[in-house]
Amino acid sequence: MKLRDIYKCNVCGNVVEVIYGNTESLVCCGEDMEKLEAKTEDYTVEKHVPMVEETDEGVEVIVGSTLHPMEEKHYITSIEVLTADKVLRAELKPGEEPKAEFAVDKEEIEDVREYCNVHGLWKA
Ligand SMILES: [Fe+2]
Repeated sequence: MKLRDIYKCNVCGNVVEVIYGNTESLVCCGEDMEKLEAKTEDYTVEKHVPMVEETDEGVEVIVGSTLHPMEEKHYITSIEVLTADKVLRAELKPGEEPKAEFAVDKEEIEDVREYCNVHGLWKA
């Protein structure tokens, strides 16, 4: 387990991100949580891979090449931009657009990822 790793409980669906600590495993609902590996290629009809576009103030991240649904039961819950020493996270809600703006230099970005409550973790 390392900083920024994301884990999911396959019993209750809780998803957590590591911000400190170095234990061997995380337990939820009495079971080891699963470490999520971000997917990079779409296998579903909806598109999930985040796209990064430069703006005047930084970048805009859009999910995905055709906009992902933002319905009550199926939506993008958050988008994260990771630099060497920062994790910037936008929290999204159903009904909003699956996109977010970040005041960050595109060159500083090491990773961009998003979480879909149905299809899991994805990165650019
Ligand atoms: Fe999805």
